[in-house]
Amino acid sequence: MASNLIRASSSLVLAVLVALIVQIFYFSPIDPVLLDIKPASSTKDNQLQNIIKLGEGFLNEPEDVCVDKEGTLYTATRDGWIKRCRRNGNWENWKHIDSYTLLGITTAKKGGLIVCDSTKGLLKVTEEDGFTVLVSQVNGSQLRFADDVIEAWDGNIYFSVLSTKFDLDNVYLDVLEARPHGQLVKYNPTSNETVIVLDNVACANGVALSKDEDYLVLCETWKCMRHWLKGANKGTTDIFIENLPGGPDNINLAPDGSFWIALVQLTSERLEFVHKYKITKHLVASFPRLINLVNGAKKKAMVVNVATNGTIIRKFDDGDGKVITFVTSALEFEDHLYLGSLNSNFVGKLPLHSA
Ligand SMILES: *[C@@H]1O[C@H](CO)[C@@H](O)[C@H](O)[C@H]1NC(C)=O
Ligand SMILES: *[C@@H]1O[C@H](CO)[C@@H](O)[C@H](O)[C@H]1NC(C)=O
Ligand SMILES: *[C@@H]1O[C@H](CO)[C@@H](O)[C@H](O)[C@H]1NC(C)=O
Repeated sequence: MASNLIRASSSLVLAVLVALIVQIFYFSPIDPVLLDIKPASSTKDNQLQNIIKLGEGFLNEPEDVCVDKEGTLYTATRDGWIKRCRRNGNWENWKHIDSYTLLGITTAKKGGLIVCDSTKGLLKVTEEDGFTVLVSQVNGSQLRFADDVIEAWDGNIYFSVLSTKFDLDNVYLDVLEARPHGQLVKYNPTSNETVIVLDNVACANGVALSKDEDYLVLCETWKCMRHWLKGANKGTTDIFIENLPGGPDNINLAPDGSFWIALVQLTSERLEFVHKYKITKHLVASFPRLINLVNGAKKKAMVVNVATNGTIIRKFDDGDGKVITFVTSALEFEDHLYLGSLNSNFVGKLPLHSA
């Protein structure tokens, strides 16, 4: 009797195990490769705990920020609003787009903004016309996951596609899979042509132009590439900075010609091992709760200032995640740093002179 029971329960355990393995391997949403994962940064200065919170409660996860010629600050929020803050400090709802996936934004030289929507594509937003879709297809496929954008002197618009495989809701699967599904794309508004400039980029993210617009910096996981637009190296690409202590998100040119890069903490302390084995990747990918455990983005925040020679000059963080986490962009304007975040209801403002 007892032995029958043991036999029955052990076959039950076996069946559950087999089902789990089948579930993990055959229905896994990813086809992973191993990644030389950078451990979560352990040093901290907590300088980002000194921020002022702008528009607190009014801004639902403002991912990116930009400033126009008048000094008006813009951000795009999860409720589909482009919101703006005038110099007098008052926030207002500016334009609405039916989307919760608005990401990188930049000012356009002829007025208005260019906005990345990871669902609809690349959008133009103006006072008069509201929003229009500039690009919705790239090389014959639906443009998904446009992530960050910049307009060059010649009117060409460069934007990143974080992944051609996963969407914003599943971005961590792209990190786990660790295969380069991203792109840098150039859109010429005069000819209405779209060209893939760089392909096979890992988590293609922030794009910024150098002060002289002679090169463009494109962030990808753990590093940033430099793509030359002018001069002897025109058309070539090299490494601008690598081994970053986090996954670089948006990047912005600073007034002195250096760059500010938001670094997302993609790993959690003591859980880095997950990225070392395919089995753990499959396991985590199959269970969303495990993803939340392994992803360190909502536990800390970090930004770095990088000189044109590719060295880190300054680094600020909230290593305890007490005031701000998941900082996705850092923009320097009039001696202050403005911080966007996918886990806050405000834009952070850090005075730089006292930091
Ligand atoms: C564009 O699409 C064609 C046809 O689907 C494909 O062969 C080509 O590799 C694609 N080009 C790039 C750069 O992805
Ligand atoms: C630009 O090209 C896209 C597809 O390539 C097309 O759908 C769209 O109508 C074109 N826009 C203009 C203004 O010609
Ligand atoms: C890089 O540039 C920074 C800032 O201009 C300077 O302080 C640093 O010495 C330079 N480093 C190298 C290796 O050239």
